[in-house]
Amino acid sequence: MRDSLKDIVDAYDPQAPLAEASTIPSSWYTDQRIFDVEKQTVFARSWQIAARIDQLCEPGSYVTTEIAGEPIVIVRGNDSVVRGFFNVCRHHAAAVMTEAEGQANQMRCPYHGWTYSLEGELKGTPDFTGVCNFDRARNGLASVQIATWENWLFARLGSEQQRSLADPNASLAEFLGAELVSQIQALGLAGLHWMERRRYLLNCNWKVFVDNYLDGGYHVPHLHKGLDSVLDYSSYTIENGAHFSLQSSPMVSGADHIQAVRGGKRALYYWLYPNFMINWYEGVLDTNLVRPLAIDRTEVVFDFYFADASEAAQERNLASIEVGERIQREDLDICESVQRGLRSRAYNAGRLSVRREAGEHLFHRLLYADLRAGVESANYP
Ligand code: FES
Ligand SMILES: [Fe+2]
Repeated sequence: MRDSLKDIVDAYDPQAPLAEASTIPSSWYTDQRIFDVEKQTVFARSWQIAARIDQLCEPGSYVTTEIAGEPIVIVRGNDSVVRGFFNVCRHHAAAVMTEAEGQANQMRCPYHGWTYSLEGELKGTPDFTGVCNFDRARNGLASVQIATWENWLFARLGSEQQRSLADPNASLAEFLGAELVSQIQALGLAGLHWMERRRYLLNCNWKVFVDNYLDGGYHVPHLHKGLDSVLDYSSYTIENGAHFSLQSSPMVSGADHIQAVRGGKRALYYWLYPNFMINWYEGVLDTNLVRPLAIDRTEVVFDFYFADASEAAQERNLASIEVGERIQREDLDICESVQRGLRSRAYNAGRLSVRREAGEHLFHRLLYADLRAGVESANYP
């Protein structure tokens, strides 16, 4: 008989201190039931990045995305207020907005032409006369909770009631915590300009990518020889907050092509539970959003920002993106290798380096708390 979901979740011991801890079991990366419960707990209840603020500059600017499998649209209204909605038509459920982003005067469903205002109210219903007991005012797009932080707009699914039951961290600010908010504020990210987005598809579970990110530079000297030459590996530090981990490394002189595009005194790598990363070098920022597509399929969205977006800086900025691309390819290959190994009968869980892997330990414990709450509330078999 196969193990119950509860048994799989409880196979992890969240109480073990780092020196005694194991990773989460391999079944968490391969069992479809874990993927389903994560969708309902980790992703449907947490704050998720839905858009960059620079995509929503004007009334009518909109962005579509998907969070925990739900179609979402974020739009700036004629009153300049940004709102979030389920991108699901109240008629027969088609996606109302179909482009990734754009500019619109109203939101018109492509299926039967129902129209909604930029504020989400139902305005137009062609060929609908004679329909009884239909309250247009109650058929606007269903809203989602949104909040902004720095250069990003976050959304959270679920009803008000579910949200307050599921998560005591009612607001985004509380979830982030004062410490993270002030550290990021000090970086002055508002002065950076977004330049490019790149997407990567990986044949691995989303947590493999996050684990790889959070290993405290453990893999850097082995896997990223170029990057290793500019980081002072032995001085790498790892600090955990309640829902975030900061890895930081002093920069030293190294390979010229990397040195030229990754300057400054320190590199800062922030991870925010569960799936967002902020990588900061002086004047250069990239963010990674890790999106689970299936139990063994993940999309990682990279956004690149630069302090100097002038024509003159273009070449250098592009070279910087290419350095990121190369590092990303190295990570991608190893993540797929790990996923294959996690399916092996020879592997169940591994141990953690005390010096390096405190971030992973935090990730696994936060994940356990969410999955445990999910299993308890939904009575999964
Ligand atoms: S589904 Fe949108 S108008 Fe019919
Ligand atoms: Fe890496």
